[in-house]
Amino acid sequence: MILETLMFQHSQFVVPMTDTEREYHGYTPMDYDADSDADEVYQRCLSYLLTHAPIERGDTVVDIGTGTGIVALELASKCDHVVGRDIYDEWLRYAREKAEQRGIENVSFGHGSFREPNIDEPVDIVIASYALYMAYDEGGEDELRAAIDGLSSLNSRCVVVADKMRFGPMHYPNDYETLPPMGTVANLLVDAGFSLTDIEIISESVGVIIATR
Ligand SMILES: C[S@@+](CC[C@H](N)C(=O)[O-])C[C@H]1O[C@@H](n2cnc3c(N)ncnc32)[C@H](O)[C@@H]1O
Repeated sequence: MILETLMFQHSQFVVPMTDTEREYHGYTPMDYDADSDADEVYQRCLSYLLTHAPIERGDTVVDIGTGTGIVALELASKCDHVVGRDIYDEWLRYAREKAEQRGIENVSFGHGSFREPNIDEPVDIVIASYALYMAYDEGGEDELRAAIDGLSSLNSRCVVVADKMRFGPMHYPNDYETLPPMGTVANLLVDAGFSLTDIEIISESVGVIIATR
């Protein structure tokens, strides 16, 4: 299900396939990077995140749901180090390869989930980019709350959610993903002890919320 959701994240680039084709059609980390590169909304969201996340030089930043490490690798030059976590080990391997190829040494990638990020060190900022919506898609508000509580347990001073979320009524429901309303994400962050310092609408289904303690 995660793979289908990833493919349909950049749905305008996906040629319709039958179920059988989909079963045998591997969607690789390279495909994901190429689609992300070509996705204008994704790029605007990334650009907003990079310019507005309140990251300081000495910070430890966690990129949760890091995938192929696009955001983690971009953030590496802005802080002390970045820790990328994901549940998809194949994509983590690819993210590590990219870091090595680019000679970026202050990023590490390892297994960890929203609920159990698997991080022992103190964390300054948590970033979730195009990832948290998957918790809602999988288990609705309860799962999203558990995910946000998991991130909150890292006790960072700030959480930046640059993600798919609904800013209006659901016009085009589809079988592949159900997006959380922006208000639900915002309320859950407040329930977890954060104040909202910035909300930016990137498109009707993508936005950035910056939440601080
Ligand atoms: C669409 S990708 C986004 C990757 C990256 N953050 C970006 O902006 O390109 C979503 C990622 O979230 C990961 N993910 C899904 N559920 C997760 C969970 N419960 N805990 C951690 N990561 C999860 C997926 O494995 C996938 O790599």
